[in-house]
Formats: sequence, C-alpha cells, structure tokens
Amino acid sequence: MTSSIKTEICDLLGIKYPVIQAGMGPHNTVNLAIAVSNSGAMGTVSIPGMSLGPIKATEKFREFLHTVKAHTMNNFAVNTPVGENVPENVFKTSEAYVNTVIEEKEKDPELKKRLKLFITSAGNPARYVRKIKDAGMLHFHVVASAYHAKKVEKLGLDGVIASGYEAGGHTHLPERTIHTFILIPQVVEAVKIPVIAAGGECDAKTFVAALALGAKGVQMGTRFIATKESELHQNYKEFIDKAGEWSDIVVPGVYGPLRCLKNRGTEDIIKIVESRSLSEEDLAKYKDEQLLLSQKDGDMERGLVASGQVASRINDVPSVSEVIESIMRESTVLVQKMQKRIDKHE
Ligand SMILES: Cc1cc2nc3c(=O)[nH]c(=O)nc-3n(C[C@H](O)[C@H](O)[C@H](O)COP(=O)(O)O)c2cc1C
Repeated sequence: MTSSIKTEICDLLGIKYPVIQAGMGPHNTVNLAIAVSNSGAMGTVSIPGMSLGPIKATEKFREFLHTVKAHTMNNFAVNTPVGENVPENVFKTSEAYVNTVIEEKEKDPELKKRLKLFITSAGNPARYVRKIKDAGMLHFHVVASAYHAKKVEKLGLDGVIASGYEAGGHTHLPERTIHTFILIPQVVEAVKIPVIAAGGECDAKTFVAALALGAKGVQMGTRFIATKESELHQNYKEFIDKAGEWSDIVVPGVYGPLRCLKNRGTEDIIKIVESRSLSEEDLAKYKDEQLLLSQKDGDMERGLVASGQVASRINDVPSVSEVIESIMRESTVLVQKMQKRIDKHE
C-alpha cells in the first residue's frame, strides 16, 4: 500500500489523496476524470467549450457527467469558467452549464451523492454561490491573487484554488502576474478557507513544496494531460513530453491571456488579434476551434496547445495511477530526506 500524505481536504471532499485534476475545457476529460477518481484523487469534468451555444453545449456536458458517474464509484468534480466580460453567447453558455449541473444533480441520487465539488473560474462567482450551495455542493473558485481570495471567502465559498502565472490555459493579466511561489503563501495568509495550489505542480517535489507554502493540496492540469488515460491526442501528449525551457508563450485567450506551447497556431492568433479582423464572438469561436484542432486532430502546427510552463519538467506519459501513487510514495520519502539533510547540515 502507498504511504500517503493526508490533509483536511481529503475529508472535506471525500478523497484519499489531496490532488485535484484540473478542469481543462474545451477538451474532453471524461476518461481522465474517471481514471483520477478511481485512483483516489478528485477527477474533474471539463466543459466542452463556450462557442457551441447553450443547447448543444449542455447536451454534451450532461452526457459527460453521466459517463463519469457510471464509471467511478468515487467522488468527482465539475469545472466551469464564469467570466463576465465576454461575448453574450459565452456568458449564456456558462450560465447554462451551471444550471445543467444543478438540474442533473437534483434528478439523480448518485450525482447528488458523488458530484461533490463545483469549481468555478475566470470571473466573479457571486451570482452562482447560492445556487451551488443549495444544490448541496462544495464550491471552490480559482483565484490569482490574495485580494480575490479574500473576496471569494467573504462570499461564503468553501475553498480557493490559487493559480500561479506559470499555469497552463488562462492565466494572469500582464500587469498582474504573480508566480506560484509568491502567490500561495500570500493567499494562505489572507484567508481561513482551504487553499489548493495550481500552476507548476507535477511531482513529489512540487507537491511537498505546495504543502510547505501552506496549501492543503494541489490541482494539476498539464501533468494529467500527458497520461495514458487522458483523451487528448497522442501528439499533444508527446508535444508536452518534448517541450523544454522557453517552449511556452502567452497569447490572447477568451478570458484574457492564455498559456500555450509555441507553434504556428500561437503566431497566427497573435496576428489575428493584432489585425482585429474578427469580431469578439468569432474570435472566441476561432480559439475554441484551434484548441480542439490539437486535441482531436493532433495538429501540433496549427492548433493551439494550451499547456503550463511545467511542460519542460514532464518527460514521460505514465498512467494516472502511476502519477498519483509516485507523488504520494515519493513525498513521504522526500520529507524524511529533508529532515535528515537538516539534521546533518548537508
Ligand atoms: C488545456 C488546458 C485547458 C484549460 N481549461 C480550463 C478550464 O476550462 N477551466 C479552468 O478553470 N481552468 C482551465 N485550465 C487551467 C487548469 O484548470 C489548471 O488550473 C492549470 O492547468 C494548472 O496549471 P498546470 O498546467 O501547471 O498544472 C486549463 C489548462 C489547460 C492546460
């Protein structure tokens, strides 16, 4: 049996290990969420995109929720960005996602029991807190500063996921960047609710570091993309596997800047945004399509390959349980080694 590190979020979320798989819309993370939840951590269902429109989007999302429910007996989570300064279609779609989760939970006793956690991101969760709590779910929100963590705590949320600038996908505004190493202790000191660290975690070293900074667990995105079970294209996984220092770049995304791996797709998006050749709504659609080009077609040249800077530290494509078990196994050894080093003044 793997020796393990437990924190308060294990009991709160009903999971064995304090690890959350990040929501990674518009990519399908159904298989990934099943594998993560079956491995004792928290799997998360991601949204199928913002440009499908509320009806198509929620049909798919509903199917995702029920598939995960059917293939794990453990708890799982759902993630929806709830940004406000977005095209109307995007705003309506995120609203429809939240309503769908609540409705499905209401109807289905198994979802009611095991769809434990709602993770919102990319905006102000205020208009959804009551709904989510009344549905009996725990509600965490992704924040990028202690300032926003305090606001979220005041709203009555159950936890925050503090995401550093190095994170994959949507990240901080250029004038407001804070890296994980600075952000986590700052947020931990600012709030009383549990803080989960996101951005840059991939192994025992970064997991132990996150706990040392005061986090109660980690949320990992990029590490989980490059696993056997994740349904992202094999080329996507290999692109992450091969990425080195300076492979990543921040380009304009739907909710602000988006961290991706450099390719023709990132060059194209920069040119399109600079030339203002597309309306806001068409641009949001174009970005979703380019992201899906890399996930479904494995087009690593023209597609957008959202990824964290941590890609440079990922050099394999193991199974989900190998990722989680090795973090747990090696973390306890690492803590003992650190103590020995300190005792011996090494
Ligand atoms: C491909 C990709 C898509 C993402 N999509 C979402 C999303 O839909 N909602 C969200 O809250 N965060 C999203 N994120 C951010 C992740 O949830 C997570 O916070 C981030 O990946 C953590 O950093 P890491 O990649 O260094 O682990 C995405 C990240 C990636 C890499």
